[in-house]
Amino acid sequence: MNSQLLSPDPNCVESSGPHPKADPCVFVVFGAAGDLTKRLLIPAIYNLIEANLLSENFAIIGIARADKDSEQFRKDLTEDLGKYATRAVAPEKWEKIKNNIHYIQGNFDDQHIYQKLAEKLPEVDKAVDAKGNVLFYLATGADYFASIVHRLAEAGLTQEVDGKWRRVIVEKPFGEDLQSAKALNASLLSSLQESQIYRIDHYLGKETVQNILVFRFANGLIEPLWNNRYIDHVQITVSEVVGVENRGNFYDNAGALRDMVPNHLLQLLTMTAIEPPTSFAADSVRNEKAKVLQCLRPIEGDDIVLHAVRGQYGAGKIKGESVSGYRQSQKVRPDSNTETYVAMKFNIENWRWAGVPFYIRTGKALPQKRSEIVVTFKKAPISLFQQADCSNVRSNQVIINIQPEEGISISLDAKIPGPNIAISPVKMTFDYKQYFGQAVNTGYETLLYDCMIGDATLFQRGDTAELGWQAIDNVLDYWKHSRQKDFPNYAAGSSGPKASDDLLSRDGRYWKSLS
Ligand SMILES: NC(=O)c1ccc[n+]([C@@H]2O[C@H](COP(=O)([O-])OP(=O)(O)OC[C@H]3O[C@@H](n4cnc5c(N)ncnc54)[C@H](OP(=O)(O)O)[C@@H]3O)[C@@H](O)[C@H]2O)c1
Repeated sequence: MNSQLLSPDPNCVESSGPHPKADPCVFVVFGAAGDLTKRLLIPAIYNLIEANLLSENFAIIGIARADKDSEQFRKDLTEDLGKYATRAVAPEKWEKIKNNIHYIQGNFDDQHIYQKLAEKLPEVDKAVDAKGNVLFYLATGADYFASIVHRLAEAGLTQEVDGKWRRVIVEKPFGEDLQSAKALNASLLSSLQESQIYRIDHYLGKETVQNILVFRFANGLIEPLWNNRYIDHVQITVSEVVGVENRGNFYDNAGALRDMVPNHLLQLLTMTAIEPPTSFAADSVRNEKAKVLQCLRPIEGDDIVLHAVRGQYGAGKIKGESVSGYRQSQKVRPDSNTETYVAMKFNIENWRWAGVPFYIRTGKALPQKRSEIVVTFKKAPISLFQQADCSNVRSNQVIINIQPEEGISISLDAKIPGPNIAISPVKMTFDYKQYFGQAVNTGYETLLYDCMIGDATLFQRGDTAELGWQAIDNVLDYWKHSRQKDFPNYAAGSSGPKASDDLLSRDGRYWKSLS
């Protein structure tokens, strides 16, 4: 599927036609001086302007603690955009929006800022004719999600009247275990309708992740093979080279399991395993996603130790540079029992997937930054090439690359040219950037746009957020109450703890190499 094998069909690429612009709205960001806002949200808004997808009737109100006025806030955002934009910024395009940026200084716990916001909104709305629509983005620590929504509701800011919409994007982490996720859902739903809540997982903003559904359900070639008759197992990897950096405070209380599995990893698993939805409408897709999570065999009893592996990195070398161990990081307890690596085995108990294990792994201080789904097919039922050199024969794989490159590759076995039958694996690769000339984006563009047009397909519904936690709750609980005596159990720069390799080797399988 690389560009030599398949040339883009210009008719098809164009036939999808231009997307309509998003609805007019005022974008209210809580946590407007934070890392997420400057590094990802504002560059994403700029990319929407460039793509002609943002309404001209658009304004931003930022809320944070720093003492500054709107003029200073505009200057700061302009400077940040210069640093973090994913493409060259055209000053005249940014200028148009810049004049409609406002700032409210204050503490989220102070009811006054909600009063100020209630006064400011009609004024800003009128200036740009935002039609009364407001998108609230909670770019704050998770502790504030419930209280901000509650105070917004008290100030009458979440009511939808006369077709004017009020939507709230809630960042991750959505709770810290099943119980707290349930409590957060209940709290949000006491002020908002489910249809107003957009629980974000920015992985779902990636083209490749959305493309999983198209790849599976638009290709007659793929879907008939996508089941336990032909697939041996699935591996999902989200590996990071970086260690805990300056997030020790947060990370040491969270750990890799909480931080990555109930959201990113299980979302990828769900997209891989989902049944065809009746349509691509939000609820059809989300119903099918919920069904996958409901079919996960609970990990309990002895399976907790057998199916879940935790690791913590010690000192090592990454790309030739010495790296100190996790316990030596700032704001990390010197005897920390927090895991920086997780590997798990899930079984999906339904007709399609019975008997096909889904292995997931994620970790820090690993040799490569990579997010990918590897679908390994069963071997051909009989080898016709017994006399041939088959030492290189591998099972066929479909590899869905999500990060750093986005694309899909398929590995097949082919005959090496020459008089003898000798076999070698070959790869067909489709790279998004190369094929569609796609500009780099932050992963937030699609999600912001979707929220502005009221399409919740790529956001987590309350029940799936809870189901994600439910899938790992026993493991979380067990790990909380038992120390892992051999921590640190992998060196920075290695591929993770030995127990992770054992998890697969017990089943006669092995991880795709990370180096
Ligand atoms: N950063 C990322 O790459 C990223 C990626 C995915 C998800 N997220 C999620 O996004 C959320 C925000 O992350 P972040 O990295 O942007 O955090 P951050 O850099 O700590 O920013 C938090 C923002 O909230 C403000 N704030 C905190 N407490 C406040 C209070 N009581 N009253 C008023 N303002 C207050 C901070 O203002 P001050 O400047 O005054 O402290 C700052 O503007 C988190 O839930 C995180 O998990 C972040």
